[in-house]
Amino acid sequence: MAQLSWYDELTTDQAAEAGELLAAAEKTDGVAPVGEAVRLRMRPGATGSKHLLAHLNGELAGYAHVDMIGDSGGHKVAELAVHPKYRHQGVGEALVKALPQDSLRIWAHGGHPDAEKLAEKLGFRKVRELLRMRLRVENELPEPELPDGITIRAFVPGKDEAAVVYVNHRAFDWHPEQGSMSIEDVRAKENEDWFDPKGFLLAFDAEDRLAGFHWTKVHTPELGEVYVVGVDPDRQGGGLGKALTLAGLRHLREQQVKEVMLYVESDNTAAVRVYTKLGFTLWDADVQYGR
Ligand SMILES: CC(C)(COP(=O)(O)OP(=O)(O)OC[C@H]1O[C@@H](n2cnc3c(N)ncnc32)[C@H](O)[C@@H]1OP(=O)(O)O)[C@@H](O)C(=O)NCCC(=O)NCCS
Repeated sequence: MAQLSWYDELTTDQAAEAGELLAAAEKTDGVAPVGEAVRLRMRPGATGSKHLLAHLNGELAGYAHVDMIGDSGGHKVAELAVHPKYRHQGVGEALVKALPQDSLRIWAHGGHPDAEKLAEKLGFRKVRELLRMRLRVENELPEPELPDGITIRAFVPGKDEAAVVYVNHRAFDWHPEQGSMSIEDVRAKENEDWFDPKGFLLAFDAEDRLAGFHWTKVHTPELGEVYVVGVDPDRQGGGLGKALTLAGLRHLREQQVKEVMLYVESDNTAAVRVYTKLGFTLWDADVQYGR
């Protein structure tokens, strides 16, 4: 039986050990078992989480993260991984059973078949699906056609945070996580190694009001991401989302990126339509389970 222990915060050593487990799982499964937000919460000093460690024979065999702040629907959201060496020994089931069961949601990144079996066994069903799409950008990309009066410039740290947060909140008021992005969240990301204001494109109207934005991210020299695209609801459906997406893709291409990926909710018809029309195809999908 795995030995389970809970922590409000990980020490540097625990975080390193859990990081190795996540890397081993990613190598075996071809998909990262936890998202960027969990990685940030694993850092010493981070709050709002509960960490569950499962040990077998004195080694870390499983790790679960619970976001206790949760999503906008009041769900506690868990992400977990079992070390490839310790699979099919009941560690995953032990982790899931030990999680706070009330209003629980669990992500299965990449929709792993073992996760699906475990979810079914424990009475969970699929409640959300996040598609990962990708596009090769080595070839020419069309020139973005900006709606009348719109101009694009790069984000200026210390100046544009409030406007971005305002439009983001309006564009994503329906979204379980993205809509709550705060000025502090933006500032925290400005301190990340990958942050590049030149890849954070803002579209202003003739009255200098922010109409939309496209935040890009470079993961590796080869791989970029459409990190967030948001268009103010008053401006949606007028071609701005497509133009901003293209402008960001062209920026990523100029950074020599060969492929661009993005995440999109499977039921976000407008966004899926925009990306599909630009040539993005399905890569894989993360599945969220609930009861
Ligand atoms: C998704 C979003 C960025 C699209 O921006 P937009 O300015 O509304 O979209 P556009 O006007 O540029 O539309 C581009 C294409 O998608 C199509 N499209 C846009 N919205 C659509 C909808 N609701 N249903 C069907 N097709 C749609 C358009 O017809 C257009 O096709 P065309 O190029 O053949 O003319 C915008 O709706 C938005 O900010 N939504 C909320 C935030 C969000 O979901 N962001 C993406 C998260 S991954």
